[in-house]
Amino acid sequence: MAKPKPDYILFDKNTQAIVYGYQTRAVQRMLDFDYICRRETPSVAAIVAPTRSNGYHKCFWGNKEILIPVYRHFEEAVAKHPNADVMINFSSHRSAYPTTLDALETDTIRTIAIIAEGVPERYARKLAAIAKQKKKWIIGPATVGAIAAGAFKIGNAAGTLENIIRCKLYRPGSVAFVSTSGGLFNELNNIISQATNGVYEGVAVGGDLYPGSTFIDHCLRYEANPNIKMIVLLGELGGTDEYAVIEAIKAGKITKPIVAWCIGTCAKLFASEVQFGHAKARARGDLETADAKNNAFREAGVIVPNSFDELRRVIRETFEDLKAKGQIPEIVEPEVPPVPEDFAVAQAKGKVRRPTNFICTISDDRGEEATYVNVPISEVVEKGYSLGDVIGLLWLKCRLPKWASEFIEMCLKIVADHGPCVSGAHNAIVTARAGKDLVSSLVSGLLTIGPRFGGAIDGAAYYFRKFCNEGKTPRQMVDEMKAAGILIPGIGHRIKSVTNPDKRVELLKNYAKNNFPQTKYLDYALKVEKITTTKRGNLILNVDGCIGVLFVDMLNSCGFKAEEIDEIIEAGTLNAIFVLGRSIGIIGHILDQKRLKTPLYRHPWDDILYAIEPARNIGEQGK
Ligand code: ACO
Ligand code: LMR
Repeated sequence: MAKPKPDYILFDKNTQAIVYGYQTRAVQRMLDFDYICRRETPSVAAIVAPTRSNGYHKCFWGNKEILIPVYRHFEEAVAKHPNADVMINFSSHRSAYPTTLDALETDTIRTIAIIAEGVPERYARKLAAIAKQKKKWIIGPATVGAIAAGAFKIGNAAGTLENIIRCKLYRPGSVAFVSTSGGLFNELNNIISQATNGVYEGVAVGGDLYPGSTFIDHCLRYEANPNIKMIVLLGELGGTDEYAVIEAIKAGKITKPIVAWCIGTCAKLFASEVQFGHAKARARGDLETADAKNNAFREAGVIVPNSFDELRRVIRETFEDLKAKGQIPEIVEPEVPPVPEDFAVAQAKGKVRRPTNFICTISDDRGEEATYVNVPISEVVEKGYSLGDVIGLLWLKCRLPKWASEFIEMCLKIVADHGPCVSGAHNAIVTARAGKDLVSSLVSGLLTIGPRFGGAIDGAAYYFRKFCNEGKTPRQMVDEMKAAGILIPGIGHRIKSVTNPDKRVELLKNYAKNNFPQTKYLDYALKVEKITTTKRGNLILNVDGCIGVLFVDMLNSCGFKAEEIDEIIEAGTLNAIFVLGRSIGIIGHILDQKRLKTPLYRHPWDDILYAIEPARNIGEQGK
């Protein structure tokens, strides 16, 4: 529990708040303020974010990072942080009532700032009444908050760090103020810091008709606080709250010098009643005009300037008078620790630079819409780019001719699936039946793609191109590969053969013959196939091999340089055609299993040859 403070102190250097609402900028501003005030603990004990789960919010404490706990429920935050006696309520005008009610009913919370505008008046009145009865404080609704210089500030009160430093709010002065307006809150900080030794505390009570605390509540606190030497009150037309202060002065309850001004004196220039910005700012009778209130202040002995412009002068004169009487203590100016500028801000101003960690040369999502190699997605759609065109852009960074992008699409369609027995589909089915999710099952299928299954396209492209480019005969290729002990990638199939030809390979060959400008590598591979199939009927140019050699023919015909083709093959681009295309089928099999609700698969014993020999003994055996 927080140490009890005197009644007149709402905030000191140990005050901690629970911020209701995920207001990360406001929290950071509070922590920056804490840091320059050299507080020992952050003024934000916890954040309540009803739409998030429990966790932490990372923010800066000077140039270090710290974690502020985040809770989904207010009760939990309160239970974990009994030290926090302030709740800064950023909830909307719709939920401000129940959330403030919760806070009022919490023993450890003493002060609540309600930031929202538009809280229904009957709710605001109820909250104010409960707060009074429970001897608690509400600041707002419709407020920017309050600041206790050098100690604690509510949310965004007092604006930017530069403003806070300019107004020396990092240490207390001798002047306290209370205003209606949050807008003029900063202006008062400015005026007071220039005309006096600075602000001790400032509160904006908010511009609603029924604020949770009023001028008199705060003026009486200021009167009781020996560190406050004079009071500034900035009211406005509308409402009668200023008269309570006038009564207290007349009754001798407030004796400290008060400088007061009510804005809205210009209302008399309008023919009819005028509603100013705040809900309260409308004179509902003669007593509520700014002039009437300023006159009443004057009559009660309050120092009232002739206009807002004179406010600074009269504050200065009043302060100088107190100083001359020896009532103002000397202030030793503290050294203010520098708060580093946020990187994003400094970068936007061009003040810092840093090397990037990543490079991207294919797409950009920073503009209004993402682009594929500078082509906006809407153009891709509106101009009817095919999937092959998109692959051309994102994989090869070029706009392919129609015959080439159609070829790529044809490959995708052709390799999309080859039944449930092939390695990839089988693995995915077993995984799905083990209850795994779609992505895991898909990945387990994709992981089977390799030099024997589906992943021979790059190898086929590499070897056929190499031997052909070196001017070697197909016979030389077969012999040299055999001598090297390498199976020719793209040759051979488990079930397809000369007598049971692979229809897919026929389709690809026909397409190339009819559409490609030339098919040099296909022709070479077919000559190799002639030789291998004389040895065994299944040593045909398979679908991987056919795609591989045709891809090289395509790149060649499109004018890609030799080094570029090397790079494309080496990067795995051609195998990627199989990976992408086969993903369609693998996903189909997974969905099929899910739909069929197939149970866990267990392989039958009789399908395994158990050939287990006794383990070899190596060296001395343990027990
Ligand atoms: N190049 C040269 N000779 C081969 C090749 C080849 N690619 N494939 C098989 N042979 C030879 C073998 O050396 C063996 O010869 P031998 O009888 O003198 O010992 C004979 O053909 C039979 O070999 P197997 O391995 O029994 O053939 P199998 O039918 O089991 O294998 C497979 C088929 C796995 C496709 C095999 O041919 C191969 O590895 N090919 C290369 C990789 C490839 O292209 N995979 C993609 C297939 S298509 C797809 O997955 C979508
Ligand atoms: C496939 O496309 O998956 C097949 O060619 C492989 C096979 O074993 O049939």
